[in-house]
Amino acid sequence: MSETATLILDGAEHRLPIVKGTAGERAIDVSRLRELAGCITLDEGYVNTGSCQSAITFVDGEKGVLRYRGIPIEQLAKHSTFVETCWLLIYGELPTREQLKCWSALFTKYEMIHEGLYHHFDGFPATGHPMAILSAMINAMSCYEPDLMEMEGPAIFQAAAARLISRLRTIAAASYKTSIGQPIIYPKPHLDYCSNFLHMMFSIPFADYEPEPDVVDALQLILILHADHEQNCSTSTVRMVASSGANMFASCAAGVCALWGPLHGGANAAVVEMLQYIHDNNIDPADYVARVKDKDSSLRLMGFGHRVYKTYDPRATLLKERADQLLARLKRVDPLLEIAKRLEDIALNDPYFRERRLYPNVDFYSGVILRAIGIPVNMFTVIFAMGRMPGWIANWKEVRDSQSALYRPRQIYMGPTERDYVPIEQRGDGGCLAP
Ligand code: CMC
Repeated sequence: MSETATLILDGAEHRLPIVKGTAGERAIDVSRLRELAGCITLDEGYVNTGSCQSAITFVDGEKGVLRYRGIPIEQLAKHSTFVETCWLLIYGELPTREQLKCWSALFTKYEMIHEGLYHHFDGFPATGHPMAILSAMINAMSCYEPDLMEMEGPAIFQAAAARLISRLRTIAAASYKTSIGQPIIYPKPHLDYCSNFLHMMFSIPFADYEPEPDVVDALQLILILHADHEQNCSTSTVRMVASSGANMFASCAAGVCALWGPLHGGANAAVVEMLQYIHDNNIDPADYVARVKDKDSSLRLMGFGHRVYKTYDPRATLLKERADQLLARLKRVDPLLEIAKRLEDIALNDPYFRERRLYPNVDFYSGVILRAIGIPVNMFTVIFAMGRMPGWIANWKEVRDSQSALYRPRQIYMGPTERDYVPIEQRGDGGCLAP
């Protein structure tokens, strides 16, 4: 007999089915609650709400476990490439040699964007944020791919997915070049995904950039570690948009916008800005930690805390290790890394952080690595988006393939109850705030 939970409301008993995940997690299925009991559940911020059943990524926030399609992140970080990980996330299995060859060839085939798209960059001011440009350009790109809009059949889907992942790096690098007033650099077909991106970021027309292998590997690690993270804010956004039947480009452009915020993907830039502020103002890290604990301030220790992880984020462990390694190999010292380590040490020994179970998350050390690679701070979240794209696509596909219902949460209305319209001359004289 299948397990149920019993809800007693107004003296009536309602049996609600329990759904069990493959890793043993349990959820009370409330999908018929309104029909059965005349009420809904309320969970602002979805702290305890499963929005879907998914077979893509597993996170155990208590134990610090992250797996893509069952494979531990540590193994993928050690043995895989970003391009292979993209396939794994989207198709659910590691590719065969032949599949990987074809998949990589598609990335090369589609690395150039339509020449017409380059003109769009002229329309953005140099001060335009790369995340705004990225989101706008993904939607613009769809205008040049009308054949992919209908998404009929697996071959069209594959072409669209490869185009989106491959061209995202071309757009990302072009938006950076535009922002610094340098000519846009075209991709080179013989380069791998990460080297090609670094080439488009840092080559200039008369001098090719030759990245150190350690730099390419570090970028690859960052992309793999960011490739998916179950129902985070941007992925839920992608699924929400996808559930309306919107195409992959529109859904992923929405994901970019959700990622931008400082509580989500924007945290990697916010961490480095925080470390730089502490450094430039010669602030004692212990004093800074005291400030973030002050309930009268809205300051937070950026890169700390996570909705799901209540222990060390496994991605932060790998990134901290790699930050040390990369700086040593490049024979560089970064004072910001030293400040980060000091902050971590103080926070992990402080009852405020221990009681709330706040640990370093993926963003705490990624910025130090990105700085060492030479990526400017305003491009950090763009790199996160490049990494997250396969996860978004995998989730978009899951919504499409399962013919999921339209995502449409309910609410508890707390506004005024019914009242009459008031003519304008009887409404007092409240002013306008905008200058
Ligand atoms: N610094 C100081 N206090 C914190 C922090 C922090 N970084 N994070 C949480 N707290 C406190 C918070 O003030 C609250 O205290 P109290 O119980 O006294 O009111 C308590 O811990 C719980 O916080 P919450 O905001 O209710 O927890 P949440 O699960 O909604 O928030 C979070 C998760 C990631 C938004 C939050 O920890 C945070 O703002 N961290 C800093 C931003 C950050 O690093 N974001 C990246 C997240 S990981 C990558 C990603 O998702 O993109």
